[in-house]
Amino acid sequence: MDLLNMKSLLFLLSLIGCCAGQDALPEGPVDAVLGRHVTFKTQINLKEPFVAVVWSFYDRTELVPIVTVTSAGDKVADDYKGRVSVNRTNGFLTLGPLEAKDSGDYSFVVVTASEGTKTGETKLRVLEPVSALTITSSLSEAIEHNSTVVLTCSAKGSFLRFSWTNGTAPIVADGKRLTLTEDQEASTSKLTINEVLRSDLMGPIYCIAANKLETERSAPFNLSVSYGPDWTIITPPPMFVKMGSNLTLPCSSVSTPPATLTWYHDGAMVKSADGVLTLSDIQVAQSGKYHCVAFNPKTLRYVSSVEVPVTVLEAISGSKISGPAETLIAGNHTANLSCQATAGNVTTRVWTKDAAPLTPSARVVVSEDGGTVTITPVQKEDNGEYKCQLTNKINTDSATYRMVVNFGPEPVTLTGEDEVEVKDPVSIKCSAVSFPPANYTWKFNGTMTAVTTPVYAIPNAVYKNTGTYTCEAHNAVTGLTAMGSHNLAVREEGALDEEGLSDGAIAGIIIAVLIALAAAIAAVMYCRRKQTIESPY
Ligand SMILES: *[C@@H]1O[C@H](CO)[C@@H](O)[C@H](O)[C@H]1NC(C)=O
Ligand SMILES: *[C@@H]1O[C@H](CO)[C@@H](O)[C@H](O)[C@H]1NC(C)=O
Ligand SMILES: *[C@@H]1O[C@H](CO)[C@@H](O)[C@H](O)[C@H]1NC(C)=O
Ligand SMILES: *[C@@H]1O[C@H](CO)[C@@H](O)[C@H](O)[C@H]1NC(C)=O
Ligand SMILES: *[C@@H]1O[C@H](CO)[C@@H](O)[C@H](O)[C@H]1NC(C)=O
Ligand SMILES: *[C@@H]1O[C@H](CO)[C@@H](O)[C@H](O)[C@H]1NC(C)=O
Ligand SMILES: *[C@@H]1O[C@H](CO)[C@@H](O)[C@H](O)[C@H]1NC(C)=O
Repeated sequence: MDLLNMKSLLFLLSLIGCCAGQDALPEGPVDAVLGRHVTFKTQINLKEPFVAVVWSFYDRTELVPIVTVTSAGDKVADDYKGRVSVNRTNGFLTLGPLEAKDSGDYSFVVVTASEGTKTGETKLRVLEPVSALTITSSLSEAIEHNSTVVLTCSAKGSFLRFSWTNGTAPIVADGKRLTLTEDQEASTSKLTINEVLRSDLMGPIYCIAANKLETERSAPFNLSVSYGPDWTIITPPPMFVKMGSNLTLPCSSVSTPPATLTWYHDGAMVKSADGVLTLSDIQVAQSGKYHCVAFNPKTLRYVSSVEVPVTVLEAISGSKISGPAETLIAGNHTANLSCQATAGNVTTRVWTKDAAPLTPSARVVVSEDGGTVTITPVQKEDNGEYKCQLTNKINTDSATYRMVVNFGPEPVTLTGEDEVEVKDPVSIKCSAVSFPPANYTWKFNGTMTAVTTPVYAIPNAVYKNTGTYTCEAHNAVTGLTAMGSHNLAVREEGALDEEGLSDGAIAGIIIAVLIALAAAIAAVMYCRRKQTIESPY
Protein backbone atom coordinates (compact mmCIF):
# COMPACT_ATOMS: atom_id res chain seq x y z
CA MET A 1 0.00 0.00 0.00
CA ASP A 2 2.69 2.37 1.10
CA LEU A 3 4.88 1.58 -1.83
CA LEU A 4 2.04 2.15 -4.25
CA ASN A 5 1.23 5.47 -2.64
CA MET A 6 4.86 6.44 -2.76
CA LYS A 7 5.18 5.59 -6.42
CA SER A 8 2.15 7.60 -7.37
CA LEU A 9 3.36 10.51 -5.25
CA LEU A 10 6.74 10.37 -6.88
CA PHE A 11 5.24 10.28 -10.27
CA LEU A 12 3.17 13.30 -9.50
CA LEU A 13 6.00 15.13 -7.95
CA SER A 14 8.33 14.36 -10.83
CA LEU A 15 5.81 15.79 -13.22
CA ILE A 16 5.54 18.92 -11.15
CA GLY A 17 9.31 18.98 -10.74
CA CYS A 18 9.77 18.93 -14.48
CA CYS A 19 7.65 21.95 -14.74
CA ALA A 20 9.02 23.66 -11.66
CA GLY A 21 12.65 23.43 -12.89
CA GLN A 22 15.42 21.16 -11.76
CA ASP A 23 17.88 23.49 -10.05
CA ALA A 24 17.56 22.29 -6.46
CA LEU A 25 20.90 20.44 -6.73
CA PRO A 26 24.21 21.85 -7.91
CA GLU A 27 25.53 20.53 -11.18
CA GLY A 28 27.65 17.41 -10.70
CA PRO A 29 29.21 15.12 -10.91
CA VAL A 30 29.89 14.53 -7.28
CA ASP A 31 33.04 12.45 -6.72
CA ALA A 32 33.43 10.25 -3.66
CA VAL A 33 35.69 7.43 -2.64
CA LEU A 34 34.60 3.85 -2.39
CA GLY A 35 33.93 2.87 1.22
CA ARG A 36 33.62 6.46 2.39
CA HIS A 37 30.51 8.65 2.83
CA VAL A 38 29.14 11.29 0.52
CA THR A 39 26.70 14.08 1.33
CA PHE A 40 24.52 15.44 -1.48
CA LYS A 41 24.05 19.11 -0.82
CA THR A 42 21.01 20.96 -2.02
CA GLN A 43 20.99 24.57 -3.11
CA ILE A 44 17.60 25.63 -1.81
CA ASN A 45 16.90 28.15 0.88
CA LEU A 46 13.94 26.91 2.91
CA LYS A 47 12.16 29.58 4.97
CA GLU A 48 9.92 27.02 6.60
CA PRO A 49 10.04 23.32 7.44
CA PHE A 50 9.44 21.19 4.36
CA VAL A 51 6.43 18.95 3.97
CA ALA A 52 8.31 16.16 2.25
CA VAL A 53 11.73 15.32 0.80
CA VAL A 54 12.28 12.43 -1.55
CA TRP A 55 15.71 11.14 -2.70
CA SER A 56 15.70 8.61 -5.56
CA PHE A 57 18.20 6.74 -7.71
CA TYR A 58 17.85 6.06 -11.44
CA ASP A 59 18.44 2.33 -11.70
CA ARG A 60 18.93 2.20 -15.48
CA THR A 61 15.47 3.39 -16.57
CA GLU A 62 13.56 3.04 -13.36
CA LEU A 63 13.46 5.64 -10.66
CA VAL A 64 14.01 3.85 -7.37
CA PRO A 65 13.22 5.72 -4.16
CA ILE A 66 15.94 5.76 -1.52
CA VAL A 67 14.35 7.71 1.30
CA THR A 68 11.22 9.73 1.84
CA VAL A 69 11.14 12.23 4.70
CA THR A 70 7.81 13.55 5.91
CA SER A 71 6.52 14.76 9.23
CA ALA A 72 5.52 11.15 9.81
CA GLY A 73 9.18 10.09 9.75
CA ASP A 74 11.91 8.73 7.43
CA LYS A 75 11.01 5.93 5.06
CA VAL A 76 14.16 4.15 3.85
CA ALA A 77 14.13 1.57 1.08
CA ASP A 78 15.40 -1.85 2.15
CA ASP A 79 18.50 -1.71 -0.03
CA TYR A 80 19.60 1.49 1.74
CA LYS A 81 18.78 0.67 5.35
CA GLY A 82 21.60 1.81 7.61
CA ARG A 83 23.38 3.64 4.78
CA VAL A 84 21.41 6.87 4.47
CA SER A 85 20.36 9.82 6.57
CA VAL A 86 18.66 13.11 5.66
CA ASN A 87 19.14 16.38 7.50
CA ARG A 88 15.76 17.62 8.45
CA THR A 89 16.84 21.25 8.36
CA ASN A 90 18.18 21.43 4.81
CA GLY A 91 17.33 18.09 3.27
CA PHE A 92 20.96 16.98 2.62
CA LEU A 93 21.34 13.27 1.95
CA THR A 94 24.31 11.45 3.41
CA LEU A 95 25.05 8.08 1.83
CA GLY A 96 27.68 5.56 2.83
CA PRO A 97 29.74 3.52 3.12
CA LEU A 98 29.74 3.82 -0.66
CA GLU A 99 29.66 0.82 -2.93
CA ALA A 100 30.61 0.69 -6.59
CA LYS A 101 26.99 0.29 -7.62
CA ASP A 102 26.14 3.64 -5.99
CA SER A 103 27.63 5.40 -9.03
CA GLY A 104 24.81 6.83 -11.07
CA ASP A 105 22.12 9.55 -11.22
CA TYR A 106 20.22 10.79 -8.21
CA SER A 107 17.01 12.80 -8.05
CA PHE A 108 15.80 15.10 -5.30
CA VAL A 109 12.29 16.47 -4.66
CA VAL A 110 11.26 18.85 -1.86
CA VAL A 111 7.73 19.97 -1.14
CA THR A 112 6.96 23.02 1.01
CA ALA A 113 3.68 24.53 2.03
CA SER A 114 4.13 28.03 0.63
CA GLU A 115 6.88 27.63 -2.01
CA GLY A 116 5.59 24.52 -3.68
CA THR A 117 7.83 21.82 -5.08
CA LYS A 118 11.52 21.98 -6.10
CA THR A 119 13.51 19.24 -7.78
CA GLY A 120 17.09 18.52 -8.75
CA GLU A 121 19.27 15.87 -10.31
CA THR A 122 22.91 15.05 -9.98
CA LYS A 123 25.45 12.38 -10.79
CA LEU A 124 27.62 10.49 -8.30
CA ARG A 125 30.95 8.93 -9.25
CA VAL A 126 32.21 6.44 -6.75
CA LEU A 127 35.93 6.45 -7.19
CA GLU A 128 38.09 3.51 -6.38
CA PRO A 129 40.84 4.67 -3.96
CA VAL A 130 44.34 5.16 -5.38
CA SER A 131 46.48 2.23 -4.30
CA ALA A 132 49.05 -0.36 -5.22
CA LEU A 133 51.40 1.97 -7.07
CA THR A 134 54.35 0.05 -8.41
CA ILE A 135 57.15 0.96 -10.76
CA THR A 136 58.62 -1.73 -12.92
CA SER A 137 61.55 -1.38 -15.26
CA SER A 138 62.09 -2.96 -18.65
CA LEU A 139 65.74 -3.51 -17.66
CA SER A 140 67.30 -4.63 -14.42
CA GLU A 141 70.45 -2.68 -15.16
CA ALA A 142 71.19 0.02 -17.68
CA ILE A 143 74.22 1.30 -19.49
CA GLU A 144 74.67 5.00 -19.88
CA HIS A 145 74.23 6.29 -23.45
CA ASN A 146 73.33 2.79 -24.69
CA SER A 147 70.20 1.63 -22.89
CA THR A 148 66.60 2.58 -23.46
CA VAL A 149 64.78 2.25 -20.17
CA VAL A 150 61.01 1.96 -19.95
CA LEU A 151 59.56 2.45 -16.50
CA THR A 152 55.95 1.45 -16.05
CA CYS A 153 53.91 2.74 -13.19
CA SER A 154 50.70 0.87 -12.49
CA ALA A 155 48.08 1.65 -9.89
CA LYS A 156 44.60 0.79 -8.78
CA GLY A 157 41.97 3.48 -8.75
CA SER A 158 39.52 5.34 -10.91
CA PHE A 159 40.10 8.32 -13.17
CA LEU A 160 43.83 8.37 -12.45
CA ARG A 161 46.28 10.97 -13.66
CA PHE A 162 50.01 10.12 -13.44
CA SER A 163 53.12 12.19 -12.93
CA TRP A 164 56.76 11.34 -12.24
CA THR A 165 59.46 12.96 -10.14
CA ASN A 166 63.20 12.50 -9.90
CA GLY A 167 63.74 13.19 -6.22
CA THR A 168 61.48 16.18 -5.85
CA ALA A 169 61.96 17.57 -9.36
CA PRO A 170 59.16 16.79 -11.78
CA ILE A 171 60.15 14.76 -14.82
CA VAL A 172 59.09 16.59 -17.93
CA ALA A 173 58.83 14.79 -21.22
CA ASP A 174 60.79 16.42 -24.02
CA GLY A 175 59.28 14.20 -26.69
CA LYS A 176 62.73 13.05 -27.83
CA ARG A 177 64.80 11.41 -25.16
CA LEU A 178 62.10 11.40 -22.52
CA THR A 179 58.55 10.42 -23.37
CA LEU A 180 55.53 9.85 -21.16
CA THR A 181 52.46 7.87 -22.16
CA GLU A 182 49.37 7.25 -20.08
CA ASP A 183 46.86 4.44 -20.45
CA GLN A 184 43.65 5.40 -18.66
CA GLU A 185 42.00 2.04 -19.29
CA ALA A 186 44.85 0.07 -17.80
CA SER A 187 45.65 2.67 -15.15
CA THR A 188 49.32 2.76 -16.16
CA SER A 189 51.88 5.34 -17.16
CA LYS A 190 55.06 4.66 -19.09
CA LEU A 191 58.23 6.72 -18.85
CA THR A 192 60.58 5.95 -21.73
CA ILE A 193 64.17 7.16 -21.49
CA ASN A 194 66.32 6.79 -24.57
CA GLU A 195 70.11 6.70 -24.23
CA VAL A 196 69.78 6.88 -20.49
CA LEU A 197 72.10 9.15 -18.50
CA ARG A 198 73.29 8.43 -14.96
CA SER A 199 71.51 11.54 -13.77
CA ASP A 200 68.19 10.33 -15.15
CA LEU A 201 67.77 7.67 -12.52
CA MET A 202 69.83 8.93 -9.62
CA GLY A 203 66.48 9.72 -8.14
CA PRO A 204 65.03 8.05 -6.44
CA ILE A 205 62.25 8.06 -8.98
CA TYR A 206 58.67 8.35 -7.78
CA CYS A 207 55.45 7.82 -9.65
CA ILE A 208 52.46 9.82 -8.50
CA ALA A 209 48.88 8.81 -9.26
CA ALA A 210 46.00 11.11 -8.43
CA ASN A 211 42.30 11.46 -8.97
CA LYS A 212 40.15 14.40 -7.90
CA LEU A 213 40.11 13.23 -4.33
CA GLU A 214 43.36 11.49 -3.61
CA THR A 215 47.07 11.53 -4.45
CA GLU A 216 49.38 8.62 -3.82
CA ARG A 217 53.13 8.31 -4.30
CA SER A 218 54.95 5.12 -5.16
CA ALA A 219 57.85 3.74 -3.18
CA PRO A 220 61.20 5.17 -4.31
CA PHE A 221 62.58 3.38 -7.31
CA ASN A 222 66.28 3.03 -8.16
CA LEU A 223 67.87 1.58 -11.21
CA SER A 224 71.62 1.36 -11.39
CA VAL A 225 73.01 2.93 -14.52
CA SER A 226 76.51 1.75 -15.33
CA TYR A 227 78.74 4.48 -16.65
CA GLY A 228 82.31 5.45 -17.22
CA PRO A 229 85.16 5.25 -16.77
CA ASP A 230 84.90 8.99 -17.27
CA TRP A 231 88.62 9.49 -16.89
CA THR A 232 91.64 7.70 -15.47
CA ILE A 233 94.32 9.46 -13.50
CA ILE A 234 97.66 8.03 -12.44
CA THR A 235 99.23 9.94 -9.59
CA PRO A 236 102.52 11.28 -11.00
CA PRO A 237 105.51 9.95 -9.06
CA PRO A 238 108.58 12.06 -8.36
CA MET A 239 110.64 12.52 -11.52
CA PHE A 240 113.60 10.69 -9.99
CA VAL A 241 113.28 7.72 -7.72
CA LYS A 242 115.98 6.31 -5.49
CA MET A 243 117.03 2.78 -6.32
CA GLY A 244 115.92 0.36 -3.62
CA SER A 245 113.01 2.48 -2.47
CA ASN A 246 109.36 1.51 -2.74
CA LEU A 247 107.38 3.38 -5.36
CA THR A 248 103.61 3.43 -5.40
CA LEU A 249 101.66 4.49 -8.46
CA PRO A 250 98.01 4.95 -7.44
CA CYS A 251 95.48 5.13 -10.21
CA SER A 252 91.86 6.19 -10.03
CA SER A 253 88.89 6.55 -12.30
CA VAL A 254 85.24 7.52 -12.07
CA SER A 255 83.19 4.52 -12.96
CA THR A 256 80.11 2.56 -11.91
CA PRO A 257 80.60 -0.24 -11.22
CA PRO A 258 84.20 0.43 -10.13
CA ALA A 259 86.63 -0.12 -12.96
CA THR A 260 89.33 -2.76 -12.93
CA LEU A 261 92.75 -1.16 -13.18
CA THR A 262 95.77 -2.43 -15.07
CA TRP A 263 99.23 -0.89 -15.12
CA TYR A 264 101.71 -0.88 -17.98
CA HIS A 265 105.46 -0.31 -17.98
CA ASP A 266 106.72 0.76 -21.42
CA GLY A 267 103.65 -0.92 -22.88
CA ALA A 268 104.00 -4.20 -21.00
CA MET A 269 101.44 -5.15 -18.39
CA VAL A 270 102.65 -5.11 -14.78
CA LYS A 271 101.11 -7.29 -12.11
CA SER A 272 99.50 -5.42 -9.27
CA ALA A 273 97.04 -5.82 -6.49
CA ASP A 274 93.99 -3.68 -5.73
CA GLY A 275 94.01 -0.06 -6.85
CA VAL A 276 97.72 0.62 -6.33
CA LEU A 277 100.84 -0.48 -8.13
CA THR A 278 103.68 -0.87 -5.64
CA LEU A 279 107.19 -1.39 -6.92
CA SER A 280 109.23 -2.59 -3.95
CA ASP A 281 112.99 -2.27 -3.94
CA ILE A 282 112.86 -0.58 -7.34
CA GLN A 283 115.78 -1.10 -9.68
CA VAL A 284 117.29 1.05 -12.44
CA ALA A 285 115.82 -1.27 -15.06
CA GLN A 286 112.35 -0.34 -13.86
CA SER A 287 112.82 3.18 -15.21
CA GLY A 288 110.48 4.04 -18.04
CA LYS A 289 106.99 5.18 -18.80
CA TYR A 290 104.04 3.99 -16.78
CA HIS A 291 100.35 4.28 -17.45
CA CYS A 292 97.17 2.80 -16.14
CA VAL A 293 94.03 1.60 -17.93
CA ALA A 294 90.60 1.47 -16.31
CA PHE A 295 88.02 -0.97 -17.62
CA ASN A 296 84.32 -1.03 -16.75
CA PRO A 297 83.02 -4.60 -17.08
CA LYS A 298 79.45 -3.40 -17.65
CA THR A 299 79.96 -0.61 -20.15
CA LEU A 300 82.91 -2.49 -21.69
CA ARG A 301 84.73 0.83 -21.99
CA TYR A 302 88.48 1.30 -21.53
CA VAL A 303 90.04 4.62 -20.56
CA SER A 304 93.78 5.05 -20.36
CA SER A 305 95.67 7.53 -18.18
CA VAL A 306 98.52 9.63 -19.53
CA GLU A 307 102.01 8.14 -19.35
CA VAL A 308 104.20 9.21 -16.47
CA PRO A 309 107.97 8.92 -16.65
CA VAL A 310 109.96 7.28 -13.85
CA THR A 311 113.73 7.49 -13.64
CA VAL A 312 115.35 5.25 -11.07
CA LEU A 313 118.78 6.36 -9.93
CA GLU A 314 121.26 4.79 -7.59
CA ALA A 315 122.18 7.00 -4.65
CA ILE A 316 125.78 8.20 -4.47
CA SER A 317 127.72 6.46 -1.73
CA GLY A 318 131.23 5.52 -0.77
CA SER A 319 132.63 8.88 -1.82
CA LYS A 320 136.37 9.25 -1.36
CA ILE A 321 139.15 11.62 -2.40
CA SER A 322 142.39 9.90 -3.26
CA GLY A 323 145.49 12.04 -3.12
CA PRO A 324 149.19 11.58 -3.74
CA ALA A 325 150.92 8.88 -1.73
CA GLU A 326 154.32 10.62 -1.72
CA THR A 327 155.45 13.36 0.60
CA LEU A 328 154.83 16.66 -1.14
CA ILE A 329 157.45 19.35 -1.30
CA ALA A 330 156.49 22.82 -2.35
CA GLY A 331 157.69 23.70 -5.80
CA ASN A 332 158.89 20.19 -6.62
CA HIS A 333 155.82 17.99 -6.72
CA THR A 334 152.52 17.63 -8.51
CA ALA A 335 149.43 16.60 -6.55
CA ASN A 336 146.46 14.88 -8.13
CA LEU A 337 143.26 14.78 -6.09
CA SER A 338 140.64 12.43 -7.47
CA CYS A 339 137.06 12.38 -6.18
CA GLN A 340 135.13 9.15 -6.79
CA ALA A 341 132.11 7.33 -5.43
CA THR A 342 131.73 3.55 -5.27
CA ALA A 343 128.01 3.72 -6.20
CA GLY A 344 125.73 6.06 -8.05
CA ASN A 345 126.03 8.16 -11.17
CA VAL A 346 127.41 11.55 -10.25
CA THR A 347 126.03 14.56 -12.05
CA THR A 348 128.13 17.29 -10.52
CA ARG A 349 131.16 17.60 -8.27
CA VAL A 350 131.95 20.78 -6.41
CA TRP A 351 135.33 21.33 -4.77
CA THR A 352 136.01 23.51 -1.79
CA LYS A 353 139.19 24.19 0.12
CA ASP A 354 138.92 25.18 3.76
CA ALA A 355 135.18 25.79 3.27
CA ALA A 356 135.69 28.31 0.43
CA PRO A 357 135.22 27.47 -3.24
CA LEU A 358 138.38 26.15 -4.82
CA THR A 359 139.72 28.73 -7.27
CA PRO A 360 141.32 27.28 -10.39
CA SER A 361 144.50 28.94 -11.59
CA ALA A 362 147.49 28.19 -13.76
CA ARG A 363 148.65 25.78 -11.09
CA VAL A 364 145.32 24.44 -9.97
CA VAL A 365 143.38 22.72 -12.75
CA VAL A 366 140.00 21.04 -12.28
CA SER A 367 139.21 18.37 -14.88
CA GLU A 368 136.19 18.87 -17.11
CA ASP A 369 134.02 16.35 -15.24
CA GLY A 370 135.23 17.72 -11.90
CA GLY A 371 136.65 14.33 -10.99
CA THR A 372 140.27 15.41 -10.48
CA VAL A 373 142.16 18.46 -9.34
CA THR A 374 145.78 18.67 -10.50
CA ILE A 375 148.10 21.09 -8.73
CA THR A 376 151.42 21.65 -10.50
CA PRO A 377 153.56 22.33 -8.60
CA VAL A 378 152.24 22.33 -5.09
CA GLN A 379 152.96 25.38 -2.96
CA LYS A 380 152.67 26.10 0.71
CA GLU A 381 149.29 27.79 0.24
CA ASP A 382 147.87 24.52 -1.07
CA ASN A 383 147.90 23.13 2.45
CA GLY A 384 144.44 22.63 3.86
CA GLU A 385 141.29 20.59 3.86
CA TYR A 386 139.79 19.75 0.48
CA LYS A 387 136.20 18.73 0.17
CA CYS A 388 134.46 17.28 -2.84
CA GLN A 389 130.67 17.32 -2.95
CA LEU A 390 129.07 14.81 -5.34
CA THR A 391 125.49 15.33 -6.39
CA ASN A 392 122.90 13.64 -8.53
CA LYS A 393 119.09 13.97 -8.72
CA ILE A 394 118.72 11.70 -5.70
CA ASN A 395 121.28 12.71 -3.13
CA THR A 396 124.49 14.47 -2.24
CA ASP A 397 127.53 12.83 -0.77
CA SER A 398 130.91 14.28 0.13
CA ALA A 399 134.48 13.37 0.99
CA THR A 400 137.34 15.32 2.52
CA TYR A 401 141.10 15.16 2.20
CA ARG A 402 143.79 16.95 4.14
CA MET A 403 146.74 17.90 1.99
CA VAL A 404 150.16 18.49 3.52
CA VAL A 405 152.75 20.38 1.49
CA ASN A 406 156.21 20.59 3.04
CA PHE A 407 158.03 23.85 2.45
CA GLY A 408 160.68 26.20 3.73
CA PRO A 409 162.45 27.29 5.67
CA GLU A 410 161.90 30.73 4.27
CA PRO A 411 164.60 33.45 4.98
CA VAL A 412 165.30 33.76 8.69
CA THR A 413 164.66 36.85 10.79
CA LEU A 414 166.93 37.55 13.76
CA THR A 415 166.03 39.91 16.60
CA GLY A 416 167.89 40.78 19.77
CA GLU A 417 170.20 43.31 21.47
CA ASP A 418 173.02 44.91 19.49
CA GLU A 419 174.90 46.35 22.50
CA VAL A 420 174.78 45.36 26.15
CA GLU A 421 176.80 46.12 29.29
CA VAL A 422 178.63 43.42 31.12
CA LYS A 423 176.28 41.34 33.28
CA ASP A 424 173.21 42.26 31.18
CA PRO A 425 171.10 39.34 29.89
CA VAL A 426 171.07 38.71 26.15
CA SER A 427 168.40 36.98 24.04
CA ILE A 428 168.75 36.53 20.28
CA LYS A 429 165.73 35.04 18.53
CA CYS A 430 165.88 33.29 15.20
CA SER A 431 162.76 32.38 13.24
CA ALA A 432 162.04 30.93 9.78
CA VAL A 433 158.65 29.94 8.35
CA SER A 434 158.81 26.23 7.57
CA PHE A 435 156.82 23.02 7.46
CA PRO A 436 157.62 20.83 9.20
CA PRO A 437 159.22 23.34 11.68
CA ALA A 438 162.92 23.86 11.09
CA ASN A 439 165.75 22.62 13.32
CA TYR A 440 167.97 25.44 14.55
CA THR A 441 171.77 25.47 15.06
CA TRP A 442 173.93 28.42 16.08
CA LYS A 443 177.50 29.40 15.24
CA PHE A 444 179.56 31.99 17.15
CA ASN A 445 182.32 33.69 15.13
CA GLY A 446 181.96 30.78 12.67
CA THR A 447 182.27 28.07 15.30
CA MET A 448 179.39 25.63 15.92
CA THR A 449 177.77 25.96 19.34
CA ALA A 450 175.69 23.46 21.27
CA VAL A 451 172.57 25.66 21.13
CA THR A 452 169.67 24.09 19.10
CA THR A 453 166.81 26.26 20.23
CA PRO A 454 165.35 29.17 18.21
CA VAL A 455 166.53 31.52 20.98
CA TYR A 456 170.19 32.03 21.86
CA ALA A 457 170.16 33.20 25.49
CA ILE A 458 173.05 34.60 27.61
CA PRO A 459 172.05 35.25 31.26
CA ASN A 460 175.07 37.44 32.18
CA ALA A 461 176.99 38.93 29.31
CA VAL A 462 180.82 38.92 29.44
CA TYR A 463 183.26 40.70 27.12
CA LYS A 464 184.06 37.60 25.16
CA ASN A 465 180.41 37.26 24.10
CA THR A 466 181.07 40.05 21.66
CA GLY A 467 181.05 38.71 18.13
CA THR A 468 178.87 37.39 15.30
CA TYR A 469 176.00 34.95 15.99
CA THR A 470 174.84 32.90 12.99
CA CYS A 471 171.54 31.00 13.04
CA GLU A 472 170.89 28.09 10.68
CA ALA A 473 167.32 26.83 10.15
CA HIS A 474 167.07 23.44 8.48
CA ASN A 475 163.97 21.59 7.22
CA ALA A 476 164.69 17.86 7.31
CA VAL A 477 161.97 17.05 4.77
CA THR A 478 162.72 19.64 2.13
CA GLY A 479 166.44 19.44 2.89
CA LEU A 480 166.65 23.23 2.66
CA THR A 481 168.59 25.48 5.00
CA ALA A 482 168.28 29.20 5.66
CA MET A 483 170.71 31.28 7.69
CA GLY A 484 171.22 34.78 9.09
CA SER A 485 173.70 36.66 11.36
CA HIS A 486 173.45 39.09 14.22
CA ASN A 487 176.29 41.14 15.83
CA LEU A 488 176.55 41.72 19.59
CA ALA A 489 178.87 44.12 21.41
CA VAL A 490 179.44 43.78 25.20
CA ARG A 491 180.60 47.06 26.86
CA GLU A 492 181.93 48.04 30.29
CA GLU A 493 179.48 48.70 33.08
CA GLY A 494 177.92 52.21 32.79
CA ALA A 495 179.20 52.71 29.28
CA LEU A 496 175.74 52.90 27.90
CA ASP A 497 174.35 55.45 30.56
CA GLU A 498 175.87 58.40 28.59
CA GLU A 499 173.04 58.12 26.34
CA GLY A 500 171.07 60.39 28.97
CA LEU A 501 170.53 64.25 28.64
CA SER A 502 173.41 66.65 29.51
CA ASP A 503 172.95 69.59 31.94
CA GLY A 504 173.18 72.03 29.05
CA ALA A 505 170.38 70.31 27.22
CA ILE A 506 168.10 70.44 30.27
CA ALA A 507 168.74 74.20 30.64
CA GLY A 508 167.91 74.73 26.98
CA ILE A 509 164.54 73.01 27.41
CA ILE A 510 163.59 75.20 30.38
CA ILE A 511 164.37 78.42 28.42
CA ALA A 512 162.32 77.27 25.47
CA VAL A 513 159.31 76.57 27.73
CA LEU A 514 159.52 80.06 29.29
CA ILE A 515 159.62 81.79 25.89
CA ALA A 516 156.59 79.88 24.73
CA LEU A 517 154.67 80.83 27.85
CA ALA A 518 155.45 84.56 27.36
CA ALA A 519 154.29 84.41 23.78
CA ALA A 520 151.01 82.85 24.82
CA ILE A 521 150.30 85.55 27.41
CA ALA A 522 151.07 88.29 24.86
CA ALA A 523 148.66 86.76 22.38
CA VAL A 524 145.82 86.69 24.92
CA MET A 525 146.36 90.34 25.83
CA TYR A 526 146.33 91.43 22.18
CA CYS A 527 143.03 89.70 21.56
CA ARG A 528 141.34 91.40 24.49
CA ARG A 529 142.35 94.85 23.38
CA LYS A 530 141.11 94.28 19.93
CA GLN A 531 137.71 93.32 21.34
CA THR A 532 137.40 96.60 23.33
CA ILE A 533 138.01 98.80 20.26
CA GLU A 534 135.35 97.07 18.29
CA SER A 535 132.78 97.48 21.08
CA PRO A 536 130.03 100.06 20.33
CA TYR A 537 129.84 101.14 24.04
C1 LIG B 1 21.53 19.85 9.47
O1 LIG B 1 21.89 21.06 8.78
C2 LIG B 1 21.99 22.21 9.62
C3 LIG B 1 22.19 23.43 8.76
O2 LIG B 1 23.15 23.24 7.79
C4 LIG B 1 23.05 21.97 10.62
O3 LIG B 1 23.18 23.09 11.48
C5 LIG B 1 22.78 20.68 11.41
O4 LIG B 1 23.86 20.42 12.30
C6 LIG B 1 22.54 19.49 10.52
N1 LIG B 1 22.10 18.37 11.31
C7 LIG B 1 22.69 17.19 11.32
C8 LIG B 1 22.11 16.16 12.17
O5 LIG B 1 23.71 17.00 10.68
C1 LIG C 1 67.89 3.52 -3.77
O1 LIG C 1 69.08 4.23 -3.49
C2 LIG C 1 69.14 4.74 -2.21
C3 LIG C 1 70.40 5.57 -2.10
O2 LIG C 1 71.17 5.46 -3.23
C4 LIG C 1 69.11 3.61 -1.22
O3 LIG C 1 69.14 4.11 0.09
C5 LIG C 1 67.85 2.81 -1.40
O4 LIG C 1 67.85 1.70 -0.56
C6 LIG C 1 67.73 2.35 -2.82
N1 LIG C 1 66.44 1.73 -3.02
C7 LIG C 1 66.27 0.69 -3.78
C8 LIG C 1 64.89 0.23 -3.92
O5 LIG C 1 67.21 0.12 -4.37
C1 LIG D 1 109.51 -1.44 1.10
O1 LIG D 1 108.49 -2.38 1.31
C2 LIG D 1 108.90 -3.51 2.06
C3 LIG D 1 107.73 -4.42 2.15
O2 LIG D 1 107.11 -4.54 0.93
C4 LIG D 1 109.37 -3.08 3.42
O3 LIG D 1 109.81 -4.18 4.13
C5 LIG D 1 110.48 -2.09 3.28
O4 LIG D 1 110.82 -1.59 4.55
C6 LIG D 1 110.04 -0.93 2.41
N1 LIG D 1 111.17 -0.07 2.18
C7 LIG D 1 111.13 1.24 2.36
C8 LIG D 1 112.35 1.98 2.03
O5 LIG D 1 110.11 1.82 2.75
C1 LIG E 1 77.06 0.79 -26.59
O1 LIG E 1 76.84 1.32 -27.85
C2 LIG E 1 77.99 1.36 -28.66
C3 LIG E 1 77.62 2.06 -29.94
O2 LIG E 1 76.37 1.80 -30.30
C4 LIG E 1 78.47 -0.07 -28.90
O3 LIG E 1 79.64 -0.04 -29.67
C5 LIG E 1 78.78 -0.71 -27.57
O4 LIG E 1 79.18 -2.05 -27.74
C6 LIG E 1 77.59 -0.63 -26.68
N1 LIG E 1 77.98 -1.08 -25.37
C7 LIG E 1 77.45 -2.12 -24.77
C8 LIG E 1 77.96 -2.49 -23.45
O5 LIG E 1 76.55 -2.75 -25.30
C1 LIG F 1 148.15 13.47 -12.33
O1 LIG F 1 147.15 13.29 -13.32
C2 LIG F 1 147.60 13.58 -14.61
C3 LIG F 1 146.48 13.44 -15.54
O2 LIG F 1 145.30 13.40 -14.85
C4 LIG F 1 148.73 12.64 -14.99
O3 LIG F 1 149.19 12.98 -16.27
C5 LIG F 1 149.84 12.76 -14.00
O4 LIG F 1 150.82 11.80 -14.26
C6 LIG F 1 149.32 12.53 -12.62
N1 LIG F 1 150.38 12.80 -11.67
C7 LIG F 1 150.55 12.12 -10.55
C8 LIG F 1 151.65 12.53 -9.71
O5 LIG F 1 149.79 11.20 -10.25
C1 LIG G 1 184.92 37.28 17.67
O1 LIG G 1 185.10 38.19 16.57
C2 LIG G 1 185.16 39.54 16.95
C3 LIG G 1 185.26 40.40 15.71
O2 LIG G 1 185.64 39.71 14.61
C4 LIG G 1 186.32 39.77 17.89
O3 LIG G 1 186.33 41.10 18.28
C5 LIG G 1 186.18 38.86 19.10
O4 LIG G 1 187.29 38.98 19.94
C6 LIG G 1 186.03 37.43 18.71
N1 LIG G 1 185.71 36.67 19.88
C7 LIG G 1 186.22 35.48 20.18
C8 LIG G 1 185.90 34.86 21.51
O5 LIG G 1 186.95 34.95 19.37
C1 LIG H 1 163.54 19.84 -5.94
O1 LIG H 1 163.82 20.08 -7.29
C2 LIG H 1 165.09 20.54 -7.51
C3 LIG H 1 165.19 20.92 -8.98
O2 LIG H 1 164.43 20.09 -9.77
C4 LIG H 1 166.06 19.47 -7.09
O3 LIG H 1 167.33 19.93 -7.26
C5 LIG H 1 165.85 19.14 -5.64
O4 LIG H 1 166.67 18.09 -5.25
C6 LIG H 1 164.47 18.75 -5.41
N1 LIG H 1 164.24 18.63 -3.99
C7 LIG H 1 163.74 17.56 -3.46
C8 LIG H 1 163.62 17.57 -1.99
O5 LIG H 1 163.34 16.59 -4.13
